[in-house]
Amino acid sequence: MKTDSTSNGRGRLSSEMLRGLVDEKTGTLDPRIYHDREIYELELERIFTRSWLYLCHESQLKKAGDFFSTYMAEDPVLVVRQKDGSVRAFLNQCRHRGMRICRADCGNARAFTCSYHGWGYDIAGNLASVPHEQDGYRNEIDKSKWGPLPVPRIETYNGLVFGNWDKDAPNFRDYLGDMLWYTDGYFDRTAGGTEVIGGMHRWVLQCNWKFAAEQFCSDMYHADFSHLSALIARLPEGVDPSMGQMPTIGSQFSSRNGHGTGFFTDVNTLDEFNGPVAAAWYQGPHRAEAIRRLGEPRASQISAAHMTVFPTFSFLPGIQTLRVWHPRGPGEIEVWAWALADRDAPAEVKEAVRLGVLRTFSAGGIFEQDDGENWLEIQKVLRGHMARRQKLNVAMGLGHQQTNHPRFPGKINNVYAEEAARGFYRQWAQMISGEI
Ligand code: FES
Ligand SMILES: [Fe+2]
Repeated sequence: MKTDSTSNGRGRLSSEMLRGLVDEKTGTLDPRIYHDREIYELELERIFTRSWLYLCHESQLKKAGDFFSTYMAEDPVLVVRQKDGSVRAFLNQCRHRGMRICRADCGNARAFTCSYHGWGYDIAGNLASVPHEQDGYRNEIDKSKWGPLPVPRIETYNGLVFGNWDKDAPNFRDYLGDMLWYTDGYFDRTAGGTEVIGGMHRWVLQCNWKFAAEQFCSDMYHADFSHLSALIARLPEGVDPSMGQMPTIGSQFSSRNGHGTGFFTDVNTLDEFNGPVAAAWYQGPHRAEAIRRLGEPRASQISAAHMTVFPTFSFLPGIQTLRVWHPRGPGEIEVWAWALADRDAPAEVKEAVRLGVLRTFSAGGIFEQDDGENWLEIQKVLRGHMARRQKLNVAMGLGHQQTNHPRFPGKINNVYAEEAARGFYRQWAQMISGEI
């Protein structure tokens, strides 16, 4: 879709101006991308209606009628397991006057009834009943025309359910593209697959969604500085937590489509964040199966990884926190996070993962606090008139990428680089300017 924004009353935001907000060739960013309300509205229109967005995990929809209430950016969406086993999703908006059709977070339903005037919808999203249909509507309402808007594209990838408003979007695996090698390495490790453990962590941060998504895409750089005190508390014995002393052996991958991941290599001790019980499983039977399925180096030479699938789905393999950064205006996000464990793991391993994620990456997690603090402080700084005029630097490792790494495919840079950040922002700029 090519769009010239000057033609729809947004002269200030021409395609050229929007594309210029990100200069991945010199590694600079215009901070308007983080605070400008009109740019945010364009993100909703041009990025979030055309990208694959994470909806939920299949383990949350075990039987027919199981539903999960989520968002695609700011749009509330209901995801429902159907009687035939398929998964459908539709806008959680009653077509009568726009009330939310379902106000529960999750559960099992035979039908959904709007709490305002009582329009009733079946689990497939068809309008099934209307109060006073006979005397009020004189039987003149065509119920087949007044169902909620369906999400036209739903795909499941290793238990992860994604949706896309764009019926012409590429399929999800093509969307992952050159990132697939890495995501298979994170999500396709065992035949039994994964499941979400425990409930959901949900909290609000006053910051732009891109700070969080980009950090998980690209930023190992902050870890041994921002997280120093947490690292001292959590690192396994033998790993030196002092500043700048974390291993530098590792790589960062930047996808053509804006996704990214980074990781250390050959330092398996970094995978012990969830304690000895979880480590024994993940470094034992889990790893042996992963090596059989994926081979090396994917199965066991990648550790302490971070990743984002553009735009808002992130995961920390090993630590096992899975999350989506729901935008709430240019200066706010809702973080929805879950712990992910092997479905076949013993109960004590699942419990160790649940507690490990709670301690490290949750609303009260010792690492999470550090990250959130940085993002919302930047957002406060960007209230300043002068601060908003300063270009920001995203140039680390510029020009030093390689595509012929002996072990890792795709565009690779040092683990401390901003290769994936430049790829993330390039995708953003191309989409918002209408270039792609
Ligand atoms: S808004 Fe839903 S029935 Fe009126
Ligand atoms: Fe962090």
